[in-house]
Amino acid sequence: MCGIVGMISQEEFTTIELLKALKRLEYRGYDSVGYATVEGILQKDTGEIDGFLKTVPEHRTRAAISHTRWATHGGVTKENAHPHAACGNLFFIVHNGIIENYERLRDQLHGHNYVSETDTEIIAHFIEEKIRNGLTVRESIETFIAEAKGTYAVLLLPRGEEKIYAFKKDSPLVLGIVPEGFVVSSDIYAFSDRSQKAIFFEDYEMAEVTATDYMFFKHGMPIAKEIKEFKVTYTEIKKDFPHYMIKEIHEQPAVAERLVTSLKTDQKHKLDRLSDLVRQARKVVFVAAGTSYHASLLGVHFFHETGVETQTIIASEFRNYVTCDEDTLVVAISQSGETMDVLKALKYAREQGARIASIVNVPYSTIQRMSELSLEILTGQEICVASTKTYTNQVIALLALAQKFGYDVNLDTISQRIKECIDTHEGQVKILARELRDCQDIYLIGRGLSYPVARESALKLKEIAYVHAEGMMGGELKHGTIALIEDGTPVVCLIPDEDYEMESNTREVQARGARAIIISNNSEFSPDFLLETSSDGKFAILATVVGQMLAYYIAKERGLPIDKPRNLAKSVTVE
Ligand code: F6R
Repeated sequence: MCGIVGMISQEEFTTIELLKALKRLEYRGYDSVGYATVEGILQKDTGEIDGFLKTVPEHRTRAAISHTRWATHGGVTKENAHPHAACGNLFFIVHNGIIENYERLRDQLHGHNYVSETDTEIIAHFIEEKIRNGLTVRESIETFIAEAKGTYAVLLLPRGEEKIYAFKKDSPLVLGIVPEGFVVSSDIYAFSDRSQKAIFFEDYEMAEVTATDYMFFKHGMPIAKEIKEFKVTYTEIKKDFPHYMIKEIHEQPAVAERLVTSLKTDQKHKLDRLSDLVRQARKVVFVAAGTSYHASLLGVHFFHETGVETQTIIASEFRNYVTCDEDTLVVAISQSGETMDVLKALKYAREQGARIASIVNVPYSTIQRMSELSLEILTGQEICVASTKTYTNQVIALLALAQKFGYDVNLDTISQRIKECIDTHEGQVKILARELRDCQDIYLIGRGLSYPVARESALKLKEIAYVHAEGMMGGELKHGTIALIEDGTPVVCLIPDEDYEMESNTREVQARGARAIIISNNSEFSPDFLLETSSDGKFAILATVVGQMLAYYIAKERGLPIDKPRNLAKSVTVE
């Protein structure tokens, strides 16, 4: 959470260009925004980048840092917005992460005047005090790294000196090599439209970057770093769509096809090796959060159908529920490849000797770099905070893996089926969304294949449409929650094929007055949405696409900020 971008260049650039690069990271948080230039110009405010751009004058500079915030310590105020400086204003700081021992560090310092409620400000005061005591900037940073507890990716810009210092632990940081100089940022998307060459920071590393050169250090010693070349399909333009979410929903046929092709060609070898790792393991555990967790639930179901037992656990609870050893394979599923809870779970698993594999979207992300093997889902950047196309491709990757164990699914028709599903049902979803515009609660029920769909669609409804939604196992509803069903309560019932138990659950809620909305591929159940598909993983994908569209159009009816819902951020890099 929080996006940081520093730019340093042999040629002048404008602060507007800096903010445009920062905007590509805005999905990481949008509570406040700010920048500082090497000349000492500091601008910051609450709110989003577009609004900020309208209020700040344009400056030309050759070195500057910027920040888009997802608040952790301290409310959403101008004072708490980054960059921060210390008393002497020697330099500016931007930070992504949390300094856990900031109070203890503050107690060590004397005579400092704090102007914000953030944990970040201590970094500036701490380093400034060390410089005052005679250390160089680099030595001061090393001292900070040695004493700080928590997570951080930090950029430090000295006033009047065209140089950026960058250092990190646990939070992501990358140095992009662009034609005129360098970009240091939370992820590659800040510069991936200009360059596909980058150096990825590992924990405790620091870089000193000028417009023409860079040097990396670890524990005070210079280190050599490898330049990596990466590929991303960059999609910034909304074109004919009013929101990225609906654009990304419509991109699903294309990205699905790209992945299916790649799994048969470029990534075939990796898929084979991943299936070997699954075969070799005594225990296979998926780990993920949010939407990616729902994809992993489907993965467990697909494997179960082939007779291979796997399990999945929400990343933040991994340590409390799972034990690992050398015979355990942990497969992380993550769009960003940076989710802190997943990273922590992987570190724990690795300490216990487990092997690590992953399914990620962002190339060279930390989770990918921690994995002995990583499949890429190749959706390109997903800009809407809510995941849609990346979920679909995670499910496709899991289907392809389960297919290696005998799961019966035709991957070649997925793309076409998604397209037909959108074309056939979008109009009808819009009508339903109008009807449900003012509803307070929606329940969604499924079993087996359709249970993860119920949960994923509920998550979309909560985060985008701000509707209280619960995705449940059809069999579990009557063990309590059914008490909440009243006349007219909408209940989305997901009934694959001949799932007569799900049909009974549907009748049960209808008998209590619920407005059942049936999604099925079996016309016998007179579904509201008849999906043209067999009852394999494709059903789960198509039913979720209907859920995505429903969340989108209810949110649109309500006039909500769909691409940037309140309180959320796309890349959750704090625990
Ligand atoms: C919901 C959503 C989140 C993410 C979750 C995990 O639409 O996007 O629930 O799925 O934060 O993120 P990744 O997949 O990046 O690990």
